[in-house]
Amino acid sequence: MDIHVVDHPLVAHKLTTLRETTTDSPTFRRLTDELVTLLAYEATRDVRVEPVRITTPVSPAEGVRLTSPKPLIVPILRAGLGMLEGMQHLLPTAEVGFLGMIRNEETLEASTYAERLPDDLAGRQCYVLDPMLATGGTLSAAIEFLVARGCDAITAICLLAAPEGIERVKADLAGIDVPVTVVVAAVDEKLNEVGYIVPGLGDAGDRLYGVV
Ligand code: URA
Repeated sequence: MDIHVVDHPLVAHKLTTLRETTTDSPTFRRLTDELVTLLAYEATRDVRVEPVRITTPVSPAEGVRLTSPKPLIVPILRAGLGMLEGMQHLLPTAEVGFLGMIRNEETLEASTYAERLPDDLAGRQCYVLDPMLATGGTLSAAIEFLVARGCDAITAICLLAAPEGIERVKADLAGIDVPVTVVVAAVDEKLNEVGYIVPGLGDAGDRLYGVV
């Protein structure tokens, strides 16, 4: 598993406002959208394209288009949903599948509670959206699920990661021969005793959608 921290002043600027307690939900959603679009630019460097021949108003020309089958975007419910539009700005023709994973707040282990994905993901490039790579349990479980369905390249986009979560995902995926990259805006200091990223931004789902 490779980790790519996007080092860009605009990413750092938007992330700073996102973290602040005083940032309200509408602003949080807008900033998430903008940040994801910036991260998606980096995350799609290896998106698969094929050569095409086109005609401009002036002459024939060579170009590229996304290969078929198109990439699959997989937001992890619920907080990953807040990242979907930002990703679709760059990949409007990608298909979208949904994976509902919930973390048991006592054991911190993840389990699948909903799934709407093609049965066969053979040959598909997948972009997993999950804002917080905290303990790593959810991301590992999601990636293992997609690999079991046949997906052959996975890029996860996260806003923040904790070092403990990165280590766990690396260890969990050590035996998987599918390339996995995690693109993240920042790696924070640590996890606290209840599994929150420090300094982090709090509960991403609650900040996007309110406490339910
Ligand atoms: N999930 C969140 O939303 N925030 C954290 O800090 C950790 C997990």
